Amino acid sequence: MIKNKKILVVGAGGFIGGHLINRLLQNKNILIAADIKPKEYWFQDFEEVKNHYSMDMKDINNCRKVTKDVDYVFNMACNMGGMGFIENNKAECMQSVLINTNLLISCKENKIKKYFFSSSACAYNKSKQQKANIEGLKEEDAYPADPEDGYGWEKLFSERMCRHFMEDYKLPVRVARYHNIYGPYGTFDGGREKAPAALCRKVIKAKKNNEKKIEVWGDGKQTRTFLYIDDCIEGTLRLFESDYTEPVNIGSDEQVSINKMIEIIEDISGTNKLQREYKLDKPKGVRGRSSNNDLAKKILKWSFKIKLKAGLKKTYDWIDSEVSKHGSNLSRYTKS
Ligand code: GDD
Repeated sequence: MIKNKKILVVGAGGFIGGHLINRLLQNKNILIAADIKPKEYWFQDFEEVKNHYSMDMKDINNCRKVTKDVDYVFNMACNMGGMGFIENNKAECMQSVLINTNLLISCKENKIKKYFFSSSACAYNKSKQQKANIEGLKEEDAYPADPEDGYGWEKLFSERMCRHFMEDYKLPVRVARYHNIYGPYGTFDGGREKAPAALCRKVIKAKKNNEKKIEVWGDGKQTRTFLYIDDCIEGTLRLFESDYTEPVNIGSDEQVSINKMIEIIEDISGTNKLQREYKLDKPKGVRGRSSNNDLAKKILKWSFKIKLKAGLKKTYDWIDSEVSKHGSNLSRYTKS
């Protein structure tokens, strides 16, 4: 349990960053929060946070400023989204390399005690994800390198930079490969949303508008493992406090097809089965991706707890309430 530390979270206004701060505040830690977004667009915000900074970490002078006199740094910041965003914004995604690079340099200069980097399942070799029902990806499956173009290359390169800062400058690092994290207080509209939030939103809107069909990207047979945010935070903190310095999968064991996930969401919503309008020309990403969690079980004594149906129910209820509250004025949850 991290206690009484001064901790900087970069990407604090984002989905995972906001949940992480909420959890870290529970243990008398002092939190510094930074994000490129103006504060009114942060997904969550907490009064107890000591300092809020709205600044761009692609500028090293900003990194130098916010990393001064802190114990730990969690880098949860990158320009990202679901497949709809990362397939169409590769240059934007790759520029996040500047965030990680500048933060590492600043952490080295300011003698930070430990650094966390949020990597992604997009770092894995594409050729190992071409079938719908594949075995879970093990950490070594990131090599030989052939990650998701753009976003995945940035993540894999940044993972390696962390490793070399540790080897050459003795900066302790921890690296998680997240497998499609979902839950409340995340993007669910506007183009950056991932499949769980997007499909909850589509079912909610179909129900509210009495429509009989929803649009699905691809043929719905593609598979993923989705991890609920509370499990993600628990796995992240366990990894951070472990002695393990190589990348570790933080994912669930529950592989589902997109079609199956839609059935679960329909069940939660209580609607009749909606007609699926499969859009084969929309961004699909890899055919099958799931997480092998043997390493996390072994070294972190950790495994996911929240089943997809339970996690989707919480996500669905939250999106439903946001849509009811704000109607189409959803800028807080749609901005990057
Ligand atoms: N986003 C989205 N929206 N995806 C949909 C939709 C929809 O309305 N309908 C079907 N899908 C399908 C996509 O075509 C894709 O095949 C699958 O659902 C999963 O899409 P995403 O959740 O958008 O992305 P991903 O799982 O391929 O990758 C995401 O997770 C990675 C970590 O595992 C991305 O967010 C990556 O940035 C991230 O690294």
